[in-house]
Amino acid sequence: MKLAHLFKQQVASMLQPVTLMTEEELIQMLEVPPTIDMGDLAFPCYTFAKTWRRSPDQIATEIITAIEQPLADAHIQAQAVGAYINLTWDRAYYGTEILSSLEEQQNTELQIGTGKRIVIDMSSPNIAKPFGVGHLRSTIIGAALHRIYQAVGYEAIRVNHLGDWGTQFGKLITAYLRWGDPEQLKLNPIGESLRVYIQFHEEVEQNPRLDDEARDWFRKLEQGDAQAVELWHYFVDVSMQSLQKMYQRLGVEFDAVLGESFYNDKMPAVIAQLQRQQLLVESDGAQVVRLDEQELPPCLILKSDGTTIYPTRDLATAIYRKEIMGADQLIYVVGGEQTLHFKQVFEVLRKMGHSWATDCIHVPFGLMKVDGKKMSTRKGKVVFLEEVLDQAVERATQIIAEKSPDLPNKEQVAEQIGIGAIIFGDLKNNRQNEIDFSLKDAVTFEGETGPYLQYTYARIQSILRKVQTMNNSHYNQTTIELETNTTNREWSHVSWALLIHLSRYTYELERAATQHEPSIIARYTLETAKLFNQFYNKDRIVDAPLSVKAQRISLTMQTGLYLKRLMTLLGLQTPEQM
Ligand code: ARG
Repeated sequence: MKLAHLFKQQVASMLQPVTLMTEEELIQMLEVPPTIDMGDLAFPCYTFAKTWRRSPDQIATEIITAIEQPLADAHIQAQAVGAYINLTWDRAYYGTEILSSLEEQQNTELQIGTGKRIVIDMSSPNIAKPFGVGHLRSTIIGAALHRIYQAVGYEAIRVNHLGDWGTQFGKLITAYLRWGDPEQLKLNPIGESLRVYIQFHEEVEQNPRLDDEARDWFRKLEQGDAQAVELWHYFVDVSMQSLQKMYQRLGVEFDAVLGESFYNDKMPAVIAQLQRQQLLVESDGAQVVRLDEQELPPCLILKSDGTTIYPTRDLATAIYRKEIMGADQLIYVVGGEQTLHFKQVFEVLRKMGHSWATDCIHVPFGLMKVDGKKMSTRKGKVVFLEEVLDQAVERATQIIAEKSPDLPNKEQVAEQIGIGAIIFGDLKNNRQNEIDFSLKDAVTFEGETGPYLQYTYARIQSILRKVQTMNNSHYNQTTIELETNTTNREWSHVSWALLIHLSRYTYELERAATQHEPSIIARYTLETAKLFNQFYNKDRIVDAPLSVKAQRISLTMQTGLYLKRLMTLLGLQTPEQM
């Protein structure tokens, strides 16, 4: 049985001999009509008017006549409406089969990524600086992509490329030794490091010698000075602990945490190779790789004081991921402001002779503001991620108190809703868009929100519980299958629309994976919930007429399974009751 997204292929192959176009072109031309009572697909005939020298309306009628037999054989009805051919699939003929194929569709292992390993660079915050909104987006998008890649067969590895090295650690050590409070650092590592870090930036304006001091400390750190290394370890440890709490709340895990410092001993080999290949040239005392032919600015490799820099580390990192971790594809989920950086790094890799540089993919995303504020800045005015999470959960708590005061596990559900609101508020947008995130809008049960999805899922579970108690296990899966196969042949518009929508799952999943775009799944999930609610508002389910009751309960059950699967892909929890 072909699933409904193959409907297009089905008619395209009939239209091919008549129109003399390729199947591909025909599939492109087929449209989904604005309302379902107009049909399932529509084929516009304007394009042929010129060559065929007839009106499009006339052509529509002629084409229908030409493919009458194959249409009839396939149980498809065609009607010429102006320049369009509206096509309607026989619901009685197809419905039952599509419904029973839904379960199989969800359990079929997809093959796009089979045998391929993908390494995902995600989250990657800078230690000792606040967790910025870019890191939040990278975490949320990266985690969703990881599950999407896995769902299409890849072996996907999540790497947190912590920013745990660089001159800022010289500044941090300098500032901490002067103004730091060890007690505070233990209690609130990110806040305390940020406080002294900000103080450093304020005081350095009066006292430029602080900069020299910081440089000295970083040099000492690079040379392995005991005190510097100990302080650095301490900063990394306490920061990691507080990051871990946040990751836990967001439900995000990593397969490896390999910070920038991990590549310290792997850079000399890269630099030596660049020298051997005569790719390094001097520029203002620094060493760079020129990328003139690519019309890119030169890629900085060594600063004038001989220290390495961000791109140098990324070269070593990519080579490690390819050669040691065995990556077939290297994905970097990093903000769009680093597009140039990645172009340069990938170009340098290519110049070094790494033909796999084409398997390196920067997956950029746009900026996000939370309630009009940037989530973090160096100058102080920051909203911390934890505050954002707490506020979302607090709002959820209030709504639950109003809407379902009797819910047994209120606190747990509030956390699931609050966090879900933030995750979905991010993922529903095309990742490259800039987002003006409003907490209030994100944490409501209506509209395009995570809580709306969760609420819909909980509603389905409550319907199914009702069915259970009414029929007391009468409607178990086999009974439903039996009845769907024999009795119900009628499909209402709303139930048919939902059915067809669910049958597109694989298609949407594969699209999301190949375009590295979780919003495809997010929008598809939203549409699933909307269509279900339309179905629920229009059609009776629990007390439906006997001829369609089993069909509708089965459709409800499948929708619940699909919603759960889809929400899990996105990183949303699915409370059974709300
Ligand atoms: N820590 C970096 C930043 O905050 C992001 C790192 C992204 N990953 C990478 N391989 N460069 O800007």
